[in-house]
Amino acid sequence: MFNSSSTSLSFVFGLTFLFFSCQSKESNDSSTRGLIADKAMVVSARVEASAIGLQILKQGGNAFDAMAATELALAVAFPFAGNLGGGGFMVYRLADGQVGSIDYREKAPLAAHRDMYLDEDGNVIPGLSTKGALAVGVPGTIAGIYEVHQKFGTLPWSEIIQPVIHLAENGVVVTEKQAQRLANNRKDIIEVSGEQTLFAREFQAGDTIKYPALAETLRRIAANGADEFYKGETAQRLVAFLQAKGGIITLEDLASYQAQWREPIRFDYRGHSIISMAPPSSGGVTLAQIMGMLEPFNLAAMRHNSPNYIQVLTEAERRAYADRNYYLGDPDFVEVPINQLIDKSYLKSRMASFDPDKATLSSDVGHGELSIIESDETTHYSIVDQFGNGLSITTTLNGAYGSKLYVDELGFFLNNEMDDFSSKTGVPNMFGLIGAEANAIAPGKRMLSSMTPTIVEKDGKLLMVVGTPGGSTIITSVLQTILNVVEFGMNMQEAVDAPRFHHQWLPDHINFEPEGFSSSDMEILKAKGYKINEGYTPIIGKVDAILVLKNGRLEGGADKRGDDTAEGY
Ligand code: GLY
Repeated sequence: MFNSSSTSLSFVFGLTFLFFSCQSKESNDSSTRGLIADKAMVVSARVEASAIGLQILKQGGNAFDAMAATELALAVAFPFAGNLGGGGFMVYRLADGQVGSIDYREKAPLAAHRDMYLDEDGNVIPGLSTKGALAVGVPGTIAGIYEVHQKFGTLPWSEIIQPVIHLAENGVVVTEKQAQRLANNRKDIIEVSGEQTLFAREFQAGDTIKYPALAETLRRIAANGADEFYKGETAQRLVAFLQAKGGIITLEDLASYQAQWREPIRFDYRGHSIISMAPPSSGGVTLAQIMGMLEPFNLAAMRHNSPNYIQVLTEAERRAYADRNYYLGDPDFVEVPINQLIDKSYLKSRMASFDPDKATLSSDVGHGELSIIESDETTHYSIVDQFGNGLSITTTLNGAYGSKLYVDELGFFLNNEMDDFSSKTGVPNMFGLIGAEANAIAPGKRMLSSMTPTIVEKDGKLLMVVGTPGGSTIITSVLQTILNVVEFGMNMQEAVDAPRFHHQWLPDHINFEPEGFSSSDMEILKAKGYKINEGYTPIIGKVDAILVLKNGRLEGGADKRGDDTAEGY
């Protein structure tokens, strides 16, 4: 039950429980619409990757074939995050309604240990988990896409990779945004990878970067499958390279890596069924928690991005992130009380302390008390294919260009995913997330993620495929994009482009994107005790999503914040 202070919510926020429309609204404003297609669509961070994914679909391949091609094409066209040296998660919904997901998250090397980033006084050594060979987790990408292809693919593996090899050989034209990103990271890349590395060069917008070494690596992977990366010549060369750089990944680490099929998180929100990624990503559980806490509020009656709306979302986010950081970790290593965390009555009790007149302090919000019952169970791109399958895939190197360690002889960057573990309880990682025991480092363990590849169903049919990059902000960006469509009736492109904000419990402040929020609204929030991050706040997320319109056509939402592009037919 809500406590007495929350009784006023029904007046102030138009609190409703069941008496609202469960119909998805759909904006008809064609001027703001994204790309519309009849049959199939791929939306990703780069036009080259979306186009290659679409080419595979047009060749008769399905979304799973297109996934392998798009993922690898992103490693060529978008080395900032696209990768062979990282990992990711994919959530799928087949045309017949079956859902599932695969975890190809990186793992801690077998020689890793919980204090590996601490000095002799027990303090975190700055940079050790974020830059260079020790920051690298055992990559999962090739295992993931190969496993997906083995299970669901229809075109031959080698055929799918051909256009990507072609792209790597012919090169990719540098965009303005890419030139800026490379310039911003060049110093660190040189520090880690040396003066002779490919990205030591100062690339300008309009230059073409060719990747002959990557083309060779891809050729071997096309011929030999995932074994090439984990047991073959590529594995040998990768391990020799890493060990020369002071890394601890061995041939045994690579040979024993396996992607895992996992049961996705599934929950209802106002007549929609939402399917998202389960641990070791925190995305699905945290999204379910936030949406469960929001469900009793009539958000549609609030002005979009108004102080009231920001307040309710912030308070739900605060409470969900406090739980996230305490309870979540790799389910193969720790017991994660998923069912209790997303239980609607637990979530209602979490919001009982919500006061519409003032901010809750994060220092007053710990993780919720659950009675744990022992039990013996335990860069984003979106694709919809011409058969009606929907795939939501988020993949990462973690930081920009990962560990900044570029393997010139193989043509790809390596991740710095080890930073997603809690190096030390209570000390924030590069996203300011404070971790706990559940996410401590252990050999062979997967580090907790925020990646939230998500699919939304309505009336038993596919409605939306959505996801984004953005570290700890991923979950709240996916949340806001879904709410923009289902509560505010925005079309897909509007929902993606709308200004975003973010709160994650600690640090106890709200981040706003630089544009789209008024100073008068900020003043209202400040008067209630909300702390606003007044320092530099960058854009939040780059959402790439697809909406199935009422007439069955597809609308792409390719985030204007990046070079993101929808391709469809
Ligand atoms: N490396 C970001 C995440 O997995 O959430």
